[in-house]
Parts: sequence; structure tokens; C-alpha cells
Amino acid sequence: MDMQPIPAREGNHNLQDYQQKRKNFHWEEVKENFSWSKTGKVNAAYEAIDRHAEDPAKKDKVALIYSAPDREEKLTFNQLKNQSNQFANVLNKEGVQKGDRVFLFMPRSPEFYACFFGILKVGAIAGPLFEAFMEQAVRDRLEDSEASMLITTPELLERVPHNELPNLEKIVLVGDFTEASNKYVDYFKEMDQASEAFDIEWVDLEDGMLLHYTSGSTGKPKGVYHVHNAMIQHYATGDWVIDLKEDDIYWCTADPGWVTGTSYGIFAPWLHGVTNVIRGGRFTPDSWYETLDKQNVTVWYSAPTAFRKLVSAGADVVHKYDLSSLRHVMSVGEPLNPEVITWGVDAFKLRIHDTWWMTETGAMLIVNYPCMDIRPGSMGKPIPGVEAAIVDNEGNELPPNQMGNLAIKKGWPSMMRAIWKNPGKYESYFINGWYVSGDSAYMDEDGYFWFQGRLDDVINTSGERVGPFEVESKLIEHPAVAEAGVIGKPDPERGEIIKAFITLNEGYKASDELVEDIRQFVKTGLSAHAAPREIEVKETIPKTRSGKIMRRLLKSWELGLPTGDTSTLEE
Ligand code: PRX
Repeated sequence: MDMQPIPAREGNHNLQDYQQKRKNFHWEEVKENFSWSKTGKVNAAYEAIDRHAEDPAKKDKVALIYSAPDREEKLTFNQLKNQSNQFANVLNKEGVQKGDRVFLFMPRSPEFYACFFGILKVGAIAGPLFEAFMEQAVRDRLEDSEASMLITTPELLERVPHNELPNLEKIVLVGDFTEASNKYVDYFKEMDQASEAFDIEWVDLEDGMLLHYTSGSTGKPKGVYHVHNAMIQHYATGDWVIDLKEDDIYWCTADPGWVTGTSYGIFAPWLHGVTNVIRGGRFTPDSWYETLDKQNVTVWYSAPTAFRKLVSAGADVVHKYDLSSLRHVMSVGEPLNPEVITWGVDAFKLRIHDTWWMTETGAMLIVNYPCMDIRPGSMGKPIPGVEAAIVDNEGNELPPNQMGNLAIKKGWPSMMRAIWKNPGKYESYFINGWYVSGDSAYMDEDGYFWFQGRLDDVINTSGERVGPFEVESKLIEHPAVAEAGVIGKPDPERGEIIKAFITLNEGYKASDELVEDIRQFVKTGLSAHAAPREIEVKETIPKTRSGKIMRRLLKSWELGLPTGDTSTLEE
């Protein structure tokens, strides 16, 4: 990259501080910031909400600003404490116990957050689902987690195949509904009757807190299991990287159905007692700028796909808004294009700080701090307490500038503790003491890390992680489709788009209508973001002799690249 580094600015800490910390740092130091380090009583919901609500100076501070086209609402720390207590009482009444999985499938709303903390307060494990999921995606996750309760809205209920989910005992409905069933719990009615007092279930730092489902290259989505201990890293990165200060108005644009929306849309800001903006409704450049302007957002965490859309919207749109309150911007989820950083400097007079991490890592690992020179195109450097390296397939460290597996030394606080009911899968992430991310990267002489791509077939479309197997499985459920192979195809705005290659069953002929019908089938059955933008009908799909679809070969053909070793290709 021949772009000049963009010089540092001031943050909560200076560079010497980090250099010092890198040499001589123990996560123990961070623990002093939590009340459990004195009381021995652990629960992340208490640290994020109740602790501030019990502080007379913070009790009435606005914790949540909810802003949607049809609803504006503010909740103080005290209100959020009371509402989550009420919901914890509802959960108790319905028999939810410590360790049970309680899933949330609803749009972002103030109720979502009251429910989320209520779940943690009874010691249960929260499983947030992206609101755009359709029936198959919802079913897979509820089945695998054996969730006993789901919180959803009457509108989304039709996507929940609850008669086919034997473990699902109760469904809490947030909104008006008419159909009576002893399975249904009326949220507003129960909340009205519930007490605002609740004795939190104290847990162990290693007890379960969250299940986030994510995709790999093979098999169904897997449940990434996180424990309360993760709060240590959410807090630390909230200070070091997000640079949070008492009076900040913070906005993380991610949906809580994805890990960014919990680690950084919930924990980091509220562990710091900061005012957190939650925006409902769909993205448009105007509505996002309007949120920044109207709420006086000071710190903003978003994603390259959104920044790219803002860039395309043009300078005229930015200049309609007063963004002068903004002081710090960060990005995650995909490679952050150097052009976007340049645009940010122009549009906001600010640098956009890239951060790298994954669902499995639970929190940021490689970052650009405020006080660090940014090399546009680089993800930055590892945070204190985290050792990152580029390793070969045996887990041996490679020298600078050599491409290989981006790996992290096992044992940072927010690391996933299991893949739900799949110990073999969990073990497969670790080689020779390293967590191997599946990303390829290199490190330069100065210790900056540079992302190169995925080493597996996982697709990253508009920052959303999609497993090809899930899409292929849905495609072949369509009566016309015999076989399917799915790849990510580079796209300037979305990073990658999903492209499917299919063969047809006898009696079907390729046509635009059929292709559109197949696309809609995935969209309405699985989810809109997983529906292939391009579908190409082929005579055959390349497979290995053992019958595995050769996605790599499909990709090489699509991109006009050399096909490499095809010796395992079936005749
Ligand atoms: O390929 C990397 C990409 O997103 C993957 C993780 O996706 P997910 O688990 O959905 O979590 C996304 C947000 C935490 C990674 O394996 N990725 C994430 N951040 C970056 C990135 N690729 C390039 N640059 C980044 N900063």
C-alpha cells in the first residue's frame, strides 16, 4: 500500500502507555473496574446496568436513546434496571432456570434490551436472532440450541415452526395477538404485573451468557458459546479502542443478532455507563446522517458496507448535516478500503479506525487505537494481552511479510468457550496452542496486520457471514434444483455477493422466471441476505470423486483464474 500513514491523535491513552502495557500487562488489572472484584458476586447484567442505577449520580442518566421512524424513547439506567428486573420475574414465573437457552427474535426496540438483561439476570443464556431470518434459519438455531423459550413479536411468529420444536415450551409475544395458546406469554400483560424488585442470580465468570450462531464452510450454522468473563475484554476495548468517556453519546449500528451488536452494541458502552443510541428502521444515507446529527453522536462504530454506501451517496448528502459532535469513528466486519478512510478524513475530518475480530473471538483483537498512526488498508495491531501471529498449517510462526493463517495465542478473556454440542468442531479451531481464524493475512516489519482473504469458503456479503452449505441445502430443496454450488463473488459495494451454480432436475428448463423463483425460494425460506444475487444454470457441477462440490474450481472459473490442482475432480 503506497498511501501515507495518517498520523495519530489523542485518546484515553498514549502510545507509550500501550507499549508499556504490551510488555507488562495482566488482564487481572482490568478486573479492578468491576464490582465483583470486591463483592465476589458476578453477573454482566449487574455490571452493565444495575451498578449505574445504584449510583445516585448515574441513576437518572439516559442509558438508551431509541430512535426509529415511528418511535422515539429514552430509558435511564434506573428504568432499564427496573424493566429488566420485571422481565427476570416473568422468566422466573415461567420456570426459566440458570443455563436455559432463551432466544430473542425481534427487531431492535427498548423491549429487546429489557428482555436481554432479564435473561442474564436469571442466569440463562441469551440467543439473539437476526430479525430478517426466515423459517429455516430460525428452526436450525432453535433446534440446535434446544431453546426452551423464544421472545418474538406476533408479526414474526409465522416464521417460527413451533410445533416442530419439542424443546420450545414458551413463546413470549411482544405485541397484540388474538390466538390463545398455553404456550404464549403476553409480554405487556405480564410486565404490568411483575415486580420491579429482583434478586439477581449470581453466576460464575465461566457460566454461559450468550449463544451466537455463525456460519462456516461446511454444515449448519454453529452455536458460538460465550461466558460472563467476556465482559473483561468488552470493558477494556471500550476504553482502549472505542475511547469511551463519561459524556459520550455512542452509536453502534450493528444488529444484536450479530456479535458486534451485543459485544459493542450492549456491553462495551453500558459497562462504561455511557449513553447508547439504538436506531430502528432501515438504512438510508439520510436517515443515518440524521441520527448522527440529531442525537449528537460522539463515537460511532459501523461497517465498511455502510461507509461505502455513504460514499456513493456523495458529498452533497453529508454536507446537509451537522456532524460536528462526532469525534471518533471505527469499523469492523470486512476489509476497510483505503479510499473509504480517505473519504472519512474529507467528510468527517476524522480517521476511520479499523478493528478486526470474529464471532468466535467475542471482542476486538487487532485494532487501530486513536493514538496510533493508521496505515490505510491495515487492520492495525493486537491489543495488550493478546498475541497475534501469522502461522503455517502446523501452527509454526512465519516471519514478517509472509502470508499465512492469522492466529491468536489461545486464552484471551472473551474467547468462545465452546461450540454448542460440538466439541470436535471447537477443538478444530486450535493448532499448536493457536486459535486459527480462517483468515489469511500477513504482518509487516512494524507489526501491522494486513488482511488478505478467507482461507475457507465462508462468504462475507455486506459484512454478513454466510455459509455456502446453508444456501446450497436450501437451493436443493427447490423442486427444480438437482445440485448446487455456492461461492462469494467480489463486488465493489457489498464486498462479495452470493453466486449460485445449479443443475436442474429432469423436466425443468432454465428460464429467467425459474431462476427468480429459486432466488425467492431461498429468500423467503432462509433469509434475504443469504439469497444468491446471481444464479447460473449449468449442465454439471464440478465435484470431487468423493462427491464434494468443488467451490474453489467454480470460483476460479467465475473469476477467470488458474484452476490449480484438479486431480481430485470426478470424471
Ligand atoms: O473474515 C473476517 C471478517 O469477518 C470475519 C468474521 O465475521 P463475523 O464472525 O461475522 O464477525 C464480524 C464482526 C466481528 C473474519 O473472519 N472481518 C472482520 N473484521 C474484519 C474482517 N475482514 C477484514 N478486516 C476487518 N477489520
